[in-house]
Amino acid sequence: MSNDKLKELAAIEASKLIPRSGIIGIGTGSTVKFLIKIMSEKYQLYKNNQFVPTSLETEKLLSNGNLTVIDDFTGKILMDFDGADEINPVGDLIKGGGGALTREKIVAANSEKFIVIADETKIVNRLGKFKVPVEIVPFLHSKTLEKIESLGGITQKRKHGKEISDNGNILADADFGIIEDPGLLEREIKMITGVVEVGLFTNMASQSIIGTEEGIINKKYK
Ligand code: A5P
Repeated sequence: MSNDKLKELAAIEASKLIPRSGIIGIGTGSTVKFLIKIMSEKYQLYKNNQFVPTSLETEKLLSNGNLTVIDDFTGKILMDFDGADEINPVGDLIKGGGGALTREKIVAANSEKFIVIADETKIVNRLGKFKVPVEIVPFLHSKTLEKIESLGGITQKRKHGKEISDNGNILADADFGIIEDPGLLEREIKMITGVVEVGLFTNMASQSIIGTEEGIINKKYK
């Protein structure tokens, strides 16, 4: 099966969890696009839902699919569905390959359940083969990158795809090799002044739904 087919299988499985009313977070990327497509095809089922998008791209896809978009509200986000670039056995993630890490983390952090959907190529034993995305403020950004390098990573400003985030900040990627302690590294990078967000999402996922050649792996973390 192609990776796209596995992503679609994960999205189909995830769509069964969406309640018929309430606020739902929607991530960014090719896996989430399948979920938006599924919902758009049956948009009337979701007329009592409001969706919080994690990027301008997702906002457009939701609106084009006749799904109601909101960006501020009172009340709670019942669940958030998003993809991942890497996922380890305890559900820690690298995210932000598409540059939407900051809004993705804000939505995930404010959701009662954070459900990761992916194909099996995203499963790893230890995080770090995929470079860690970081979003940094443009002002003195070279200094901020130096500070990230002092933690042991080799950094590079993005030169392809999305170079500037939806928030107007610089996107870069940091190569730390295999990461021994993802939670510690997440906190250390986040503490650097000038860093807006880091694409390590540790201890956040409630559940993952992974499309594999052998079927769906549905795993709960909390
Ligand atoms: C977007 O910034 C990312 O965090 C995506 O969620 C992640 O890159 C997964 O994307 P795909 O679903 O396209 O693999």
